[in-house]
Amino acid sequence: MSFSKFPLWETGGFSYLRRLMNSKEEIAKVPAGKNEAGSKQIVMSGIRPTGFLHLGNYFGAIRNYVRMQEDFECYFMVADLHSLTTHPDTKELKSNVHRVLAENIACGLDPDKAAFYCQSHIYETSELYLYLNMLAYIGELEKTVTFKDKVRQHPENINAGLLTYPVLQTADIILHRAKFVPVGKDQEQHLEMARNFANRFNHRYGEVFPEPVAFNYNQELVKVPSLDGSGKMSKSENQLATLFLADEDDMIRKKVMKAKTDGGPTEANSVKPDYIENIFGLMKLVSTEDVLQKFDADYNNCTIRYGDMKKQLGEDMVNFIAPIRNRVNSILQDEKYLKDVMEKGAEKARVSAQKTMKLVREAMGLTY
Ligand code: TRP
Repeated sequence: MSFSKFPLWETGGFSYLRRLMNSKEEIAKVPAGKNEAGSKQIVMSGIRPTGFLHLGNYFGAIRNYVRMQEDFECYFMVADLHSLTTHPDTKELKSNVHRVLAENIACGLDPDKAAFYCQSHIYETSELYLYLNMLAYIGELEKTVTFKDKVRQHPENINAGLLTYPVLQTADIILHRAKFVPVGKDQEQHLEMARNFANRFNHRYGEVFPEPVAFNYNQELVKVPSLDGSGKMSKSENQLATLFLADEDDMIRKKVMKAKTDGGPTEANSVKPDYIENIFGLMKLVSTEDVLQKFDADYNNCTIRYGDMKKQLGEDMVNFIAPIRNRVNSILQDEKYLKDVMEKGAEKARVSAQKTMKLVREAMGLTY
């Protein structure tokens, strides 16, 4: 069966695909997609199935995945086991997993190109996790920032899975002997631990794993500013200042119109305050160059009307988000398709996992 069952053009998503491909951003420090032997380098990343994706996730992460699937051998995984460390109740897990799959596919992730699978479907992960647990010290695990945060937030559920969260994450990555891990800043410590665990394994049992490193095309990840003028868009912070890929058109317009502005500049060519810079920043992501230049010129000669600017931005956001949202909704209605995607992804992931686990058991001498 074809996994390109929801082509982008069916839902009018061509314009954002074109934008994606024509993106003028500097592509800094792109590692060669192939290694010396000529085979593709391996990329692995995990996505937690916790609700709705927003514009920040799109420009910060998904857009990079979509590019990487062309250049690398990619393993993208829905981290459902990790979510058990904080959400032992599994009632909503299935619909959350489905949503994450649908949202990523709607944004251009192609299950025919990347292995897109569910963590719990690959039992080899649990085996490697067990071996790695013997190489992870309690002291270093207790020092992990994310663990300390969770302890503070949920003192009633400090379980061992939470403590060994970085060990499971390491297993996810090195199970495919992946070298490149597209993640944001918040995951840097976990990645450093992954390098430590991989090296420790190699020293004790023999060279099996490459050192995984964080990798994104742009050295500086695109930060999508929040609409309230403070920080970046976030799932948990101010939801009314965050544009979700699931937001309806009127909600998008409403949120954009509420963005913070002021009376406008009084002196020609003055420096833009942060919250105004943010609106221009958002415009840069979804509007045409002409539109952007017009408002920039208006700002510089003090004739800018923020009401008009936000109206324009609202429409451009709607044109950007609506096709994605519509695609998500049609994918979500097709459970059979989602199941097939996961099965096909798991098949690909298992081939790579089983190869690695054979090497692991041999290196450890567990071959009697
Ligand atoms: N911990 C990651 C997060 O919170 C999710 C994740 C799980 C992950 N396994 C991974 C990321 C492997 C990269 C590689 O976002």
